[in-house]
Parts: sequence; C-alpha cells; structure tokens
Amino acid sequence: MTVHHEHADAGADTAAPSEQELQKIWNGVVGRRSFLRRAGLASAVALPAGAVVASSASAKRRSKSSDQPTDGDFAILRFLAAAEIIESDLWSQYAMFGGQATKDRPTDGQNGAYVAALENLDSDMPQYISDNTDDEESHQAFINAYLMSKGQRPVSLEPFRTLAPSGATGGGSQKRLTNLKSLNVDTSWYLRYRAVTNPDFGATFGQAVTIKNQAVISISDKETPPGNNAPVPVPPDFAHQRMQAIANSAGFHFAMIEQGGSSLYTTMSLRVTSVEVLRIVVAIGGVETNHFSLWHDKAGNAVADPLDGVKDPVTGTFFPNLNTGSEATQTNLILPEPCEFIPGLPDCSVVRPTIDALAGAKAAVKALTADGLFDGQSGAFFTFIKRLAREADAAERGV
Ligand SMILES: [Fe+2]
Ligand SMILES: [Fe+2]
Repeated sequence: MTVHHEHADAGADTAAPSEQELQKIWNGVVGRRSFLRRAGLASAVALPAGAVVASSASAKRRSKSSDQPTDGDFAILRFLAAAEIIESDLWSQYAMFGGQATKDRPTDGQNGAYVAALENLDSDMPQYISDNTDDEESHQAFINAYLMSKGQRPVSLEPFRTLAPSGATGGGSQKRLTNLKSLNVDTSWYLRYRAVTNPDFGATFGQAVTIKNQAVISISDKETPPGNNAPVPVPPDFAHQRMQAIANSAGFHFAMIEQGGSSLYTTMSLRVTSVEVLRIVVAIGGVETNHFSLWHDKAGNAVADPLDGVKDPVTGTFFPNLNTGSEATQTNLILPEPCEFIPGLPDCSVVRPTIDALAGAKAAVKALTADGLFDGQSGAFFTFIKRLAREADAAERGV
C-alpha cells in the first residue's frame, strides 16, 4: 500500500484558521438569521393582526425587490463561471476520449482503448463521463446567462485557449485551456473523507495513491494504440498497462476535481447575499457533490481486485490494493465519514474543507495549478484567474 504522510502538493490541506476565526464565520451566518427571527417576533407582538399581515406582505415585496445581487455576489458568480469553463474544457477532453457518442455528442468516445480501460473501472463510465460533461457545460452557460440577465458581462476564457490538444486519437484539433497530458493528481481526498478529523481544524492527509507527472488521457497512438479495445481486465503488456494506469489515474482525477467543486461551492455560498444567487450556488454545488460521490465509487475500483497491482510502465504510478482491513482505505466506504464540524457539537457527515483558506476561490486556483492543469498557460491567464479569485474571496455576506 502506498499511503504516505506528506502534505499534498495541491496545498489543499494546509494552513488552518484559528477556532475564533471559524466561530466568527458561523456567528456571521447563524447570528444574522436569529436576529431576523427575533425582529420578526417582536413586531408581531407589538402590532394588531391586520397590521402584521400588511407588514409581512410589504416585507415580502421589499425583500423581493431588495434581493438584488450585490457586487460581491457577481464576483462570486464570475469566478464560478470561470471555474465551470475550466471544468467544461477538461471534461470535454475526457468525453472525446472516453465518453459515450450520441446524437447530441457525436464526437465523444473516440479512443476505443481508453474506453475499454475505463470500462474496467465500471462498464457505465463512458455514459457518466458524457453526462458529467453535459452538466459542466450547462453550469457555465447558465451562470454566464444569469450574469447577462442582470446587466453584467459574461466571463470568457477564449483568449487563453492556447494549449495544443493531445495528438492521440480523441484529442481533436481544438486548442485547449487545460492540460491533461501530465498531472500531479492530489488523492488526499480519499483519506480525508474516511477520517473523523476535519481539515478546517488543521487535520492533514497524505496521498492514497501517488500520481505524479501522469498522463490522464492517451498522449500517443504509438504508445497506446486506440485499437486495443477488446476487454482485457488484467493488462497483459506494456500498451495495456500504460493505458490502464492512465485510465485509473483519470478515475482519481475525476473525483479530485469534483470534491474540489463541492468544497468551493459550499464555501462560496457562505459569502452570498442575494437569496436568488444563494439558490444558484447551493443548487449547482449539490450537483458537484453528486459527481464527487459517483467518481469516489469508481476510483475505488482502481485500487481493488482485480485491477490492483497495475503499474504504469512509463511513470511508475502504482495502484495498490487498498482493501487491507483498515477502514481508513476500504474501497466501498465511499460515503463521507462523520467528522468534526462545529466545536462543542457532535461529529457530522459534511463536505470538507469549507473555509476560505482551504476551499475558497484562491485556494481552488492554487490546487488546480499544483495539479498541473494550467501547465503551459500564459502569465495573462494567471493574472486574470487570480483577479477573479481575489474578488470572489473578498465578497462579504450582507454587504
Ligand atoms: Fe460544475
Ligand atoms: Fe463539476
């Protein structure tokens, strides 16, 4: 088993805030709500019944007309639009290699060998990949449409679409925003979601599998011929071993991306002011968590019988069997273990981390950069995405 205890490269599990800082965040959310409840109760006691009805109707009108998104809300949505464009770009690459071709997505699933390797993880992988891609494309289109409906400019990353696609079958000819040819996949989420400790309070986790400088899509037809599409559960030769390691690494990357989305959306929701924007952030965030749960299950199949023992003959990435009798790594324990959440209260099964330092917009950019997803991007790209992240993290609830 290759479980070690260094900090994740992505830096996702470092720098925890103090307990006072956490308490301040929660007081901000909970305190404001209970204040409103108390204020409502006081006026109901002081006024005659008719006045209460009238006043609650006018309050409703007022709250409807005053539910305008704030500048902070727009900043949050702009960063989330950028994040969704990035997700769409990486997922559409995965879909072209290993998705399910349909009338709506005719260019999905072009690389038979990649598809066959993914199907060793789960026979429905191609369908799930195309569906996940659809979801991300809908997220970015929706958030941008919402921004425009409020007189705001949509976010575009098109000037940064400059990276060469993979030359293997499935890479297509379109320039890319994201790099999938060599990644450092942070797999600490696997251990984090099985633990009773919470990174929001300083807990750190090592890597479940060490995946460094690893292709997660095919990068050469010569190395991994796309015609190797017959089902071969245990890879018999160099090309099959390489492709299976690529597919297994992709499986872990899928979950890494989506757990990041789960934490990012939850964290951003705490800074939203408008109820309508909160609805958008919470409702899309729930789907990110849905995605994570699915990929968590599939990634476990890369570290269980019969796929355990696969080793990439090029990078050395090795997939051990994580069913060693310890609940810390057991592959079917895919639902979040209850963990520390609010000091003084019982453990709770929750998304984690959800504090700015670990899961805010700047933290998301840092994690994706450490992943290698932006390798080859220009300085202008980093300037732009970091500015969006700074502005989103600066948003304050109620301001
Ligand atoms: Fe998304
Ligand atoms: Fe997502």
